[in-house]
Amino acid sequence: MRRIDTIEPFRVMELLEAAQQLEAAGKSIIHMEIGEPDFPTPIEVISQAQSDLAQRSLSYTASTGLPALQQALSAWYKTEYDVDVAPHRILITPGTSGAFSLIYAVLLEAGESVLLPDPGYPCQRNFIRLAGADPINVPVTADSRYHLNADLIDTYWRPSTQAAVLINPSNPTGTVVDINFIKTLAEACEQHGGTLISDEIYHGLTYGIKAPSALQVSDDVIVVNGFSKRWAMTGWRLGWVVVPEALVEPCRRVMQNIFIAAPTLSQYAGVKALQLNEPLEVMRKAYDERRRYLLAELPKLGFEITVEPEGAFYIYANVAKLTNDSTSFCWDVLKQVGVAITPGADFGVNQPHLHVRFSYATGLQQLKEAVRRLKKYLTAT
Ligand SMILES: Cc1ncc(COP(=O)(O)O)c(C=O)c1O
Repeated sequence: MRRIDTIEPFRVMELLEAAQQLEAAGKSIIHMEIGEPDFPTPIEVISQAQSDLAQRSLSYTASTGLPALQQALSAWYKTEYDVDVAPHRILITPGTSGAFSLIYAVLLEAGESVLLPDPGYPCQRNFIRLAGADPINVPVTADSRYHLNADLIDTYWRPSTQAAVLINPSNPTGTVVDINFIKTLAEACEQHGGTLISDEIYHGLTYGIKAPSALQVSDDVIVVNGFSKRWAMTGWRLGWVVVPEALVEPCRRVMQNIFIAAPTLSQYAGVKALQLNEPLEVMRKAYDERRRYLLAELPKLGFEITVEPEGAFYIYANVAKLTNDSTSFCWDVLKQVGVAITPGADFGVNQPHLHVRFSYATGLQQLKEAVRRLKKYLTAT
């Protein structure tokens, strides 16, 4: 099979398009399928960008990033996690997605493999395939809070395996693991001669606990993060990756070729975004309120939530009591009562037919209406 034929569509986009068509035809739709903040980018960042647009040169920055942003992120790591990260190890990329295409291009040879949690963020598998390598879907359950653990790494690691991925907090389950857990993962990868890759894009969006960075346990891990979620800056396409010293130079060469540089205006905006506190806290509190509402209401409707999600803006629910075909269920719910939720099939092959993902990046009033509509749907069917 040619490499391009292994790339799967991002199915939620098909559901989103159908939802938008229904909306255009006058039907009211509540969007719980999208993994994108419903908040606008903080006004402070927009104002800064407006003045930068008028006053600064927006020519290319260095390929590895605007030095002022690398330094600001280094300072941010010290304040946020009390870790020292040299600015030159922080590479600025076009979104976290850019960081993934970069590191897999650098790390992987054709035929090599990477361990991924299943269910897990779907695009990961395809980044790995585009690098000519194989994603290995490792089924994870509530027992390991839906993350790879050291035992699973030992069981699934093959001679071809180069890395294992942690998404903490997880998309789609919102579950968070602590520093001791991360330490055992980093050690397991090291024992096999590979690397732990930690996707920390939902850091800062945790409720009642703080997610630790894998950089707190080792400098030999790869940490990916970005401005899309916590700072509500999806369209600015700005992310970063912290790499071990030995990878800085190979990454620089790849960055020069594949991106030249991340968007300059966004990089200046990133410096401003890192100074904010209160606007981020307002968004975090709103997500938490919505999370608590859904955690109370969804089980009453028959959606089973096995581990309390403590981060991101997702709830991954078991629908075994309601259906044995979550894809048809989601399409039917969309058509009948105008509530858009994502079927498990987007997140892997580990019992996808029995799961759906709710995103609560939608206002509380809308969520209340969604619960009312779901109740109506479930009573009628
Ligand atoms: C776990 C995870 N990683 C990475 C991304 C990509 O984010 P971006 O490219 O906007 O930084 C997403 C987006 O939904 C995500 O959920």
